[in-house]
Amino acid sequence: MSEVIKNTIDTIYDRRSIRKYTDKPVNPDLVQEVLRAGLYAPSGMNKQPWHFVVFDTKEGVQKIKEMHPYASSLATAPVCIMVCGDTALEMAPGFYQVDCSAAIENMLLAANALGLDTCWMGIYPWEEVMENFSKTFSLPENVKPFALIALGYGAVKLERPKRNDESKIHYNKW
Ligand SMILES: Cc1cc2nc3c(=O)[nH]c(=O)nc-3n(C[C@H](O)[C@H](O)[C@H](O)COP(=O)(O)O)c2cc1C
Repeated sequence: MSEVIKNTIDTIYDRRSIRKYTDKPVNPDLVQEVLRAGLYAPSGMNKQPWHFVVFDTKEGVQKIKEMHPYASSLATAPVCIMVCGDTALEMAPGFYQVDCSAAIENMLLAANALGLDTCWMGIYPWEEVMENFSKTFSLPENVKPFALIALGYGAVKLERPKRNDESKIHYNKW
């Protein structure tokens, strides 16, 4: 385990999408910890309709990069997690997307708490991109490629953004 374990609120405010990574490899125990955080996400009726496919070789990550139009972070990230939704497990149609998003955010925050950086790259709802991932990895019909997560040590540090827009918050009425 890493010595860096930040508190939850700082982790939420500090997490940024990082698109350039150092060569430093990620200890497999840390990858495991990030994946476990995904498994602990809430899901509709606790159906946990997700699968995480880990790519941790240069060739594997490069192959994924070439399949996604906005995956510049995978040019340097040492690890990529493909998150897939399972329509055979979800509570009802439309739930796997919500459940997978909760799992992804858990992983992004866990990674940040452990001193790692991430970038979420959507696959769903782009039908063409989904189709390409499904075909390339021979995914079963019920398993839908949903998103990618780049994981590694950032080569750049982005500041905590200002997003405290009070106009987005409503009390007791619209
Ligand atoms: C559903 C979703 C899809 C995204 N897709 C991409 C993507 O394809 N490529 C990318 O570099 N970033 C992608 N992002 C990251 C966003 O660009 C990023 O979260 C946003 O600009 C806010 O910046 P921050 O994450 O640093 O707070 C995606 C984020 C979400 C939630």
